[in-house]
Amino acid sequence: MTDQPLPIVRTVAALREAVAGLRAQGRPVGMVPTMGALHDGHISLGRIGRERGAAMVYSIFVNPTQFAPHEDFGRYPRTETADAERLASAGVCDLIWAPNGHEMYPAGFATSIAVGGPSAALETDFRPHFFGGVAIVVAKLLLQVLPDFAVFGEKDYQQLQVIKRMVADLNIPVEVVPGPTQREADGLALSSRNAYLDAGQRKIAGQLNLVLKDVIARVRNGESIEHAAAFGFGELLAAGFDKVDYLEIRDAETLAHAEDRARPLRVLAAAKIGATRLIDNMAV
Ligand code: PAF
Repeated sequence: MTDQPLPIVRTVAALREAVAGLRAQGRPVGMVPTMGALHDGHISLGRIGRERGAAMVYSIFVNPTQFAPHEDFGRYPRTETADAERLASAGVCDLIWAPNGHEMYPAGFATSIAVGGPSAALETDFRPHFFGGVAIVVAKLLLQVLPDFAVFGEKDYQQLQVIKRMVADLNIPVEVVPGPTQREADGLALSSRNAYLDAGQRKIAGQLNLVLKDVIARVRNGESIEHAAAFGFGELLAAGFDKVDYLEIRDAETLAHAEDRARPLRVLAAAKIGATRLIDNMAV
């Protein structure tokens, strides 16, 4: 049996008409914003929507404003045909929103959104442009589709907190729903960037999650947050990562320094193998 191809719309006008059609079916509308190169992690986000009985819209847009000039915008995998087939066969999507670049950022585009709070430090120390780009594109995507809810993966944990903050601050009428990180058998978090890794690098990458688990065990056993984080940082280098951008334990909601051990905490890390940068995080 071949799956029905999914409708793909490329202009805001066509999107609004298609979403109105979905709404007319009487189901809630959910959304999964993506940059394509879809893997099982993205599919799991759509399943969360299906469990809520929703019609689901996936956006596929490699957003130029969240990449710095030296980053991988040019080589970021673009696999729209395969993505559409994957969504159709998984049965998690009713409509694909794949805007043209000029539809998203028309000539003269001049608006920016700066989210403070949870965007401070961590990713921002290494990718200062990143959350500005994410904030503007996510605000646009949410306002274009106007779903009842949008599902974002916890793999990008700081991004999730920044989006929650922005949606609350700007009264965007969309519920932000977190989706748990999907992992390979050795614990490596699924990511479109894993495709850049060769076999040797892939082995090293699997250590990232094991180190986070070690750090969590140390904190639970009473070790100080500073010691446990420093231990994890060294372990990543020993495991073969070429550079560790950060390994930190932070307040799970505000991402401020973890001063109160009684509050929910999160360990977050970013490290590079060659030119490939991987991130991961877990609840402490
Ligand atoms: O997490 C991503 O894939 C992107 O940052 C997002 C949220 C789709 C915005 O471009």
